[in-house]
Amino acid sequence: MKTTVVILAAGLGTRMRSKQAKVLHRAGGLSLVEHVVQAASAVTARDRIVVVTGHQADTVETLLEPMGVRFARQVQQKGTGHAVMCAREPLHEADPKQDGLLMVLYGDTPLLSAATLKQLRAAQTSSDAAATLITTTLDDPTGYGRVILDQQGNVSAIVEHKDATPEQLQVRVINSGIYCFRAKLLWKYITEIHPNAASGELYLTDIAEILNRHGQRVQPLHVADSSELLGINTRIELAEADRILRARKTRELMLSGVTIERPETVAIDAQVRVGADTVIEPFVRLLGNTAVGEDCRIGQGAILESAALGDRIVIAPYTMVADSRIDPGAQVGPFARIRMQAQVGPEARIGNFVELKKTRLGAGAKSQHLAYLGDSEIGERVNIGAGTITCNYDGEKKHATKIGAGAFIGSNSTLVAPVEIGQDSYVAAGSVITEAVPSHALALGRSRQVNKPGWNKNRKPKTAKKS
Ligand code: UD1
Ligand code: CA
Repeated sequence: MKTTVVILAAGLGTRMRSKQAKVLHRAGGLSLVEHVVQAASAVTARDRIVVVTGHQADTVETLLEPMGVRFARQVQQKGTGHAVMCAREPLHEADPKQDGLLMVLYGDTPLLSAATLKQLRAAQTSSDAAATLITTTLDDPTGYGRVILDQQGNVSAIVEHKDATPEQLQVRVINSGIYCFRAKLLWKYITEIHPNAASGELYLTDIAEILNRHGQRVQPLHVADSSELLGINTRIELAEADRILRARKTRELMLSGVTIERPETVAIDAQVRVGADTVIEPFVRLLGNTAVGEDCRIGQGAILESAALGDRIVIAPYTMVADSRIDPGAQVGPFARIRMQAQVGPEARIGNFVELKKTRLGAGAKSQHLAYLGDSEIGERVNIGAGTITCNYDGEKKHATKIGAGAFIGSNSTLVAPVEIGQDSYVAAGSVITEAVPSHALALGRSRQVNKPGWNKNRKPKTAKKS
């Protein structure tokens, strides 16, 4: 049976106390609504997923556009029932005969798994019910809609926390906000939802009672692991969701052969890939679409964002790598910074307090201490002495530095770009290089030392020290 999905993501999320729409807040490296779209993708094609947007609709749509979903606008947020009604047109386009299933998901439940959605679809497909609703039992159901079951164990009503009687508040079976309807029946009866007396909103949850009134059955699908159904309303729940998503990710990596020391301290985004036998030390952050090869060691406190690492790489502690590539066998850090499309060649060595920006370092090249290498092309086996600086910026423009293979740059050299240094040449320590250095040459770019023999002996005697 054809399945279409609507994801409600139009609300502001007042309880977040944020300028940003709730579904844009991030947990586990993705926005809340991205997680929901990913889970929904397991039960239907992307073009049968309709996301209802409202608050910061443009931002939400720009974010999700690349995923290939459809959108519907809910200009005024008049409740979850109204939000579904706003999506009627694109949902009809996705299922013109309305003979399929319609799943309703909320954009603020990021922990939902694909497996649970498949289970929901299976439960609905194999029953004669008008709808299936995922429920769970919570120790503290505060804030959630309570599910009222009839004698046969079917859902007779959903009562929102605010509207519940003291007796109903005792119910710990809650509405997860995840439903699967026979599309035809939902559209037939949704118009019977009336504004809530207290808030004036149209609650989707009223549909349970309405279906019952028309002799249609709503069945619960009880899920034991309630952690999957956490709805994010406050930043406390956001932190909790982040913790759970991070734990899922480290668990998945450990099961695939990655060693993670103190996994509760690391943050690894959803899409990150790590090869087998790599060791991740405590307090590491692997972000964005970072990929790490096999047999690497990622040192304590390292932050890798959209970094591509080959095999056998050592990232020593407190190193940052962003939007850059490190080739197999290289060693980087501690306290190094590699950024903006930098490339560290195979077996190269980068030491402490070295910054590489938009720079390519050839195979086996070394820059072990205290250097800034920007907009540079550095050949194989080059040795960059401590304190070397490429002066790539003249106050207006950035300029390039080129260093040929096998060159030796003495300590504390200043390379004023644009400048080219030939292969196998030497630059004397402390030089300021403003002109090209030919291959195999020695360049001295500093004033000659002057020694004055006996100078200190011939000085006038100092005034006697006070005793
Ligand atoms: C809702 C349910 C509640 C359930 C809980 C599960 C209703 C009336 N209540 O409560 O039974 O236990 O979720 O997490 O459905 N949204 C819109 N447009 C609107 C209003 C909301 O798109 O006009 C979206 C929000 O962006 C959000 C989702 O719907 O992603 C849920 O809204 P929220 O206000 O968080 O509902 P809850 O009070 O948590
Ligand atoms: Ca919610």
